[in-house]
Amino acid sequence: MDPGDMAGAIHGLPEQCEQAWRLARELTLPEGPRPRQAVVLGMGGSAIGAELVAGLLEATAPAPIAVHRGYGVPGYVGPETLVVASSYSGNTEETLSGYDEARRRGSRVVAVTTGGELARRAEADGVPLLRIPGGLQPRAAIGYSLVPQLRIFHLMGLTGDPQPAIEETVARLRRQRARLEPSVPSQANEAKQLALSLHQHLPLIYGSQGWKGVVAYRWKTQINENAKAQAQANRFPELNHNETVGWEVPAAINGLFHAVLLRDEADPAPIQRRFDVTAEIMRPHVAGISQAWAEGDSELARLFSLLYLGDHVSLYLAYLYRVDPSPVKAIDRLKSELA
Ligand code: F6R
Repeated sequence: MDPGDMAGAIHGLPEQCEQAWRLARELTLPEGPRPRQAVVLGMGGSAIGAELVAGLLEATAPAPIAVHRGYGVPGYVGPETLVVASSYSGNTEETLSGYDEARRRGSRVVAVTTGGELARRAEADGVPLLRIPGGLQPRAAIGYSLVPQLRIFHLMGLTGDPQPAIEETVARLRRQRARLEPSVPSQANEAKQLALSLHQHLPLIYGSQGWKGVVAYRWKTQINENAKAQAQANRFPELNHNETVGWEVPAAINGLFHAVLLRDEADPAPIQRRFDVTAEIMRPHVAGISQAWAEGDSELARLFSLLYLGDHVSLYLAYLYRVDPSPVKAIDRLKSELA
């Protein structure tokens, strides 16, 4: 696939998830006791899939799952830790430094990558390696960065078999795609409508606990990288303890915000109430407030429904700003200047 074809990559997410599951199912890991904790090493687009899974399993996993975005590894990492090194290119220096440190500490390491230095080191070290297909921008490879984590955590006894939820997700994404694709006119296209609301405004994306806050963050980063625009993300209930106060002083900038509330009927009543009361507090100060509702039976399907909507919104916002959604010149520049 052409890394410059962001629309095609977003369009292909259902097939990408299917293919990711086919590949992940082939992965086997050496037998061993359940890890004391799991840490996924990754940056940017290669971290978000794991962070979504960590949020998804937060309430049920029998061991903590953390995502480490930075150099090295957290201090507690040791022989009883599962460490997953996730880098789409395989050449991200922060992730490679964590991989080396985890190996030095005798952790159980797994690598997920398209190739690069990470694949080379994993092969040389005899570390289990899941090779995912290349040719995408890492952020567009969300299926390849998320689905394998479910397989790895299942093999490690941290979650049940994800297959039924993956099948539901793929089927639902296909139906959602038919409602969001470019040929569907704005009046009937939720993603186009949201993009029109956010255009020339500062997007403020609010999610809630667990994966819902991470999906809000994914919206923000997709707007940053695809639409080349600033955006903010936050999550309930935490934002009710700080950000909610930030509307009190009349400020010219407040009126530039357009908020999108990422809602889920499965959210507990106190969270629903927080969304509603917060919207009342903000409404007089912001340009507008939109709501987007998760769809699906399984949590995974609901997660992907909001994520997929956000990916389309960032794409249509890029078109409204007349920018190419694919290149990330500032990231490339930083990587080459730091190399
Ligand atoms: C670019 C993107 C970035 C990269 C990040 C780490 O599309 O999403 O956030 O994911 O710079 O690079 P990789 O994923 O190759 O380890």
